[in-house]
Amino acid sequence: MMAVGLSNQSRIRLFSHPPNPPPLPIPTFPIPEIPPIFAGKKRPELRYVFILVVVGCIAACKGPATVRDAVPEHVTFTEHIAPIFNDHCNICHRKGGNSHIPITGYADAKSYASAIAFVVKRREMPPWPADPAYSHFLGEKVLTAKEIATITKWVDQGAQQGPPDKMPPMPKYPEGSDIGTPDLRIPVQPILLKANSTDRFLLVKVPYELPRDTFATVIEFRPGPGNIVHHVNGDFVKYRFADKKDVFAGARAVDMREDTLGLIKAFQALGLPNDDGSYPVLQKSVVNYLPGTEGQIYPDGIGGYVLPRKGAFLLNDLHYGYTGKDDILDSSYINIFFAKTPPNRPVLEFQLGTIGVSKVEPDMLIYPNTVKHVFSRFTTPIDISILTLNPHMHLLGKSFKGYAVKPEGDTIRLISIPRWDFSWQYFYTFPKMVKVPQGSTIYAEGVYDNTADNLLNPFSPPQLITDQRGSMRATDEMFQFIITYLPYQLGDENISLDPHPKPDAGH
Ligand code: HEC
Repeated sequence: MMAVGLSNQSRIRLFSHPPNPPPLPIPTFPIPEIPPIFAGKKRPELRYVFILVVVGCIAACKGPATVRDAVPEHVTFTEHIAPIFNDHCNICHRKGGNSHIPITGYADAKSYASAIAFVVKRREMPPWPADPAYSHFLGEKVLTAKEIATITKWVDQGAQQGPPDKMPPMPKYPEGSDIGTPDLRIPVQPILLKANSTDRFLLVKVPYELPRDTFATVIEFRPGPGNIVHHVNGDFVKYRFADKKDVFAGARAVDMREDTLGLIKAFQALGLPNDDGSYPVLQKSVVNYLPGTEGQIYPDGIGGYVLPRKGAFLLNDLHYGYTGKDDILDSSYINIFFAKTPPNRPVLEFQLGTIGVSKVEPDMLIYPNTVKHVFSRFTTPIDISILTLNPHMHLLGKSFKGYAVKPEGDTIRLISIPRWDFSWQYFYTFPKMVKVPQGSTIYAEGVYDNTADNLLNPFSPPQLITDQRGSMRATDEMFQFIITYLPYQLGDENISLDPHPKPDAGH
């Protein structure tokens, strides 16, 4: 009766979350108490801050790029296309990159020419589901109108090579770390992946023990040289020293499980519980990775972690993609950069929607052959500064929008994803923190397509789909808007979150 496409079934696990009730106690307090000093007081700097926001936005929130200067008359690969690919494509499409479609060299690019024109015109490549006309984020992967016109003209003109000596060298891509030399490198259990295999999903424990408690600024996931890691969403398991004798005991990797019982068994197989069977504290979303993006690197003074002597990273979902024609022994690892001082402003997280701080309205019953609109809203009890957003839906997702409405009625744009793309669920970090004042209502709006027109629909014919309060099952949906934030401090909206500011930033 229920025909579940195998590939869809495996894909859904990609971004699934632990079920409800979660077997590990997740720190539940989503929004801190109002600091007593501010409670009930209107702060005089508010108007000044508002002006800064407006000025900042005039400078930064430009509309979509326009065709400023003309597209060259004769477009060639070496002169015009290769530089665009170097900037926007080759991080993934180089040899050993995450896509197995090579387009860095002329001959390969020519053979894919019409596919290239197709995907860039539809803005499917480079992958960036967020609408850049709505809001801006760091590391935006968006072509300008001129770049798109140049690529399509190149294809229309027969995809010519151009003078070979004009071919620009490939950029140097950082190996080992995006940031520098780590203080600690913890290998992930090496996993042997057979040739021509695709889509393996693992739950992996990466334990460590240190001589003493310490602090870290950044925790970074690095895929092994084969570059076949498709995606990681990793949490941090923190042990109290006396509660866990041996963090290394237990399996390092087990296959991903979808049901609650299977997940609890998996956690036990990995040896995650304390010695008395209780569960340690779990800090969510500490090491995330998607090809082409960098780790969650915030500037000095923001973010950071307390690293207890004993701990483990729980890679919730280590997803390996297509291997190619050889066996690959993946040797990914986690880089840790120590800090001398405790985190000054550790980032916090809450989520609207499924298992979040606010319910999904009207409900998450998505009837067959319908397009369903849902929303969730949450009023912030304090001023907050938003750093990063992560909208989350499964295969029926069609579009997503997030914004905040201030008490006096102004709207703060957060994110719009007009065409939901299940494969590219980024953690979107703002160039500068976005202040959402106390009493604002944050809205998330989602649209789900449960008709047969949705090619990713896991059922044929369509079935009733629910969110089952956060179940991980392939056939369930989720609606979540995950927000990383700090309690607001004056001037936050001027602090750049860009770890690699370009000299010409802000042009
Ligand atoms: C963040 C990584 C990333 C970036 C950046 C990127 N791609 Fe891709 N691209 C992929 C992945 C992953 C696929 C899926 C196929 C695969 O697994 O290799 C893909 C697929 C494609 C395809 C095949 C589409 C199809 O349906 O057959 C083309 C053509 C393509 N990309 C062109 C480009 C071009 C041109 C750019 C730059 C303007 C670009 N890509 C940027 C990751 C990327």
